[in-house]
Amino acid sequence: MTQDELKQAVAQAAADHVAAHTPEGSLIGVGTGSTANFFIDALARQKHRYRGAVASSEATRQRLEAHGMAVFDLNDVSDLPVYIDGADEVDAGLNMIKGGGGALTREKIVAAVARTFICIADASKQVTTLGRFPLPVEVVPMARAHVARELEKLGGRPVLRSGFMTDNGNQILDVHGLSIADPKGLEATINQIVGVLTNGLFAMRPADILLLATPDGVRRSG
Ligand code: 5RP
Repeated sequence: MTQDELKQAVAQAAADHVAAHTPEGSLIGVGTGSTANFFIDALARQKHRYRGAVASSEATRQRLEAHGMAVFDLNDVSDLPVYIDGADEVDAGLNMIKGGGGALTREKIVAAVARTFICIADASKQVTTLGRFPLPVEVVPMARAHVARELEKLGGRPVLRSGFMTDNGNQILDVHGLSIADPKGLEATINQIVGVLTNGLFAMRPADILLLATPDGVRRSG
């Protein structure tokens, strides 16, 4: 199976899970990226079941609307039963690195509101220790150099994602060379650096369920 076929399989499994576990008329939180895009397509095939969605990026909002799904502002939503999103890396504790697509801040916000976070990934994303994938850190542009110096003190090698601006008007530093033994601790430490909006560690709020696509089928943890 190709990686895209794996992503498609796990996206369909997630859409089936959501249809089986959420009442008709629910709002669904939707992530960002190529796996999330396959999920949007699968979700839209059953769109009559749902009131609409909450999007974690402008790209996701546009794809949902192109399918004719209503997209709600998170500020108008008090209950979000489920959030489905991909990951760049996921470990056995369902801690993740996210933000390869640059949507980490909105993803973290929607995930914080959702009762259940379902991570959908192909098996290449599963790791023993997080950190081989460069950790994305969203920074306020005027603080970029300061934040980069502080990240170097933590042992990382920050690289500006060139030509990229987040949906929030900020920049991304991709931090190479970290071996993350304590994901929660590092998430908190990086969040304390003045000028950091969010970092791509999802450990304080990990996934609740992982659906992992393998050539032998979709495996569930959590
Ligand atoms: C975007 C993300 C994505 O979930 C992550 O980059 C995985 O993307 P893909 O499904 O394309 O491999 O965090 O900000």
